[in-house]
Order: sequence, then C-alpha cells, then structure tokens
Amino acid sequence: MSYKKKVIITGGSRGIGAAICARLIKQNYSVLAVCRTSPNMAGVDHIACDFSDKYQRINVFKSLRDYGPIYGLINNAGIATPNLLEDFDLDIYESVMTINATAVAELTAAVVPSMIQNKSGRVVNISSELILGFATRTAYSASKAAVSSFARTWALELGKYNICCNAIAPGPVETDLFIKNNPEGSAVRQSKLDKIPLGRFGKPDDIANMTNYLMSEEAAFLTGQTIYVCGGSSLGSVSF
Ligand SMILES: NC(=O)c1ccc[n+]([C@@H]2O[C@H](COP(=O)([O-])OP(=O)(O)OC[C@H]3O[C@@H](n4cnc5c(N)ncnc54)[C@H](OP(=O)(O)O)[C@@H]3O)[C@@H](O)[C@H]2O)c1
Repeated sequence: MSYKKKVIITGGSRGIGAAICARLIKQNYSVLAVCRTSPNMAGVDHIACDFSDKYQRINVFKSLRDYGPIYGLINNAGIATPNLLEDFDLDIYESVMTINATAVAELTAAVVPSMIQNKSGRVVNISSELILGFATRTAYSASKAAVSSFARTWALELGKYNICCNAIAPGPVETDLFIKNNPEGSAVRQSKLDKIPLGRFGKPDDIANMTNYLMSEEAAFLTGQTIYVCGGSSLGSVSF
C-alpha cells in the first residue's frame, strides 16, 4: 500500500478550494477540508468549523495537532465584504480580518509542529492581487496582504526545517465569491475583464495548477514568495 501525504485545506467546499481538492486527490494526497460545509467529494475528509467562531477555531485547530504527520496546509478559506471607507463598519472589518488572516495564523501555528517534526512541509496561503489596492476593499486587501506577509516571515522562521511557505495571489476567478461581488452585466465585472491581457477571467483550475506545483518536489527551492496567477491583470492597463 502506498503512503499518502496528508494535506489540510481550508474552505474546500466550493470554488477555488474544491478545484484544489480535486487536484490533490488526483495526485494521490490524503485530503482533509476544514470549513462549514462538506466538499462532498470522494476521498476528501471533512471537519466542520466556522472560522468566525473563536471557540470552534480553538477546538478544531487543537484537534488537528493529533492528525499528523501533515505534509501540506493550504489556507484558502476567505470572504470579501466590499464597502467604502466612508461606510466603515467595525463588525464587518473584524469578521474579514478574523476569517482571512487571524484564522490563517492560528491554524498554521497548530499544524506546523507536525511539519517541524518531519523536517518537511508546504504552506500555501491564498492571497489576492487586490493586495495592490482596490476601491471598497479596505479590510479584504489588508487581510490578504497579511497572508502574503505571513508567507515571508514563516519562510524565514521555518526554512531550517525544510518547510516552504508561499502565497498565491489570484486575479479574478469565476467562483461564487467573485460572481457575488461582480455580477453578470455589471460595470465592475467588465472593467476587470478589460484589465486582463489574456482576455478571460481565471478558472478555479488555474489556481489549483499553481497549488499543485507548490506542493510538488519541483518547488522545493521556492519559499517566501507571492505568485500572481492573474492573467496579467495585476500589471496595469492593457490600453495603448
Ligand atoms: N474568486 C476570486 O476571484 C478570488 C480572487 C483572489 C483571491 N481569492 C481568494 O481565494 C479563496 C477562495 O475563494 P473562492 O472564490 O473560491 O470563494 P468561495 O467560492 O466563496 O469559497 C470560499 C470558501 O471559504 C470557506 N469559508 C467561507 N467562510 C467561512 C467560514 N466562516 N468558516 C470556514 N470556512 C469558510 C467556504 O466554505 P464554507 O462555506 O463551507 O464554510 C468556501 O469553501 C478566498 O480566500 C478568496 O479570498 C478569490
């Protein structure tokens, strides 16, 4: 029987996370999804956790200490609640920061001792190209800048244990989250499409491809980086 490396992913129930789960299964990893609803995908185990609830996070993340040996952690779960600075709402700000950034640090801290013990591991934080700034995303962009920054700090702390930590910054990827904030026919959706040199929105598989690479042996000398997978949309304007 071949040994399967264990990978934990947050938010594997749909969108980018579901595509990553499907790819990990195809690559013969053992996959555990941590989020509220089950991915309902053959081969993917699930532990329910609502990251907005501190006590659920403490209990579930603590239980994962005994799940090891863990090879990979993909911090993918995230929410985006757009509003202008002038409509600042502390509850919204705190929920975005908690789910998108605080939970990432808490969970990684719980899982990393297993990687340290094995002297091997991969952490991938799903960031966003909106770390470069985007109107209505005060909290979201800051939370994603935090997870890119985490990857740099963790790369410095954990390199001696052969643990690679990177972030992926997707551009617009057509998922529930994206469609909710960029509905069909809206001006914001069109303006995002106009900014993409490759002329299309991303697919969840585009991000799963990069995650798969970062989990692979080929990426063993890559750490501390934020890799933009965005069809070129982070580069600026395509008009000339
Ligand atoms: N789509 C894009 O254009 C885009 C661009 C850049 C970055 N991203 C990032 O990519 C990641 C995935 O986005 P997506 O587009 O696939 O979003 P999505 O379709 O809305 O999926 C979000 C995932 O996060 C989980 N999640 C949300 N709230 C949660 C909570 N309170 N507790 C636990 N899990 C929770 C959801 O699982 P449950 O509902 O089952 O809990 C779901 O699996 C996010 O971090 C997002 O910020 C997306």
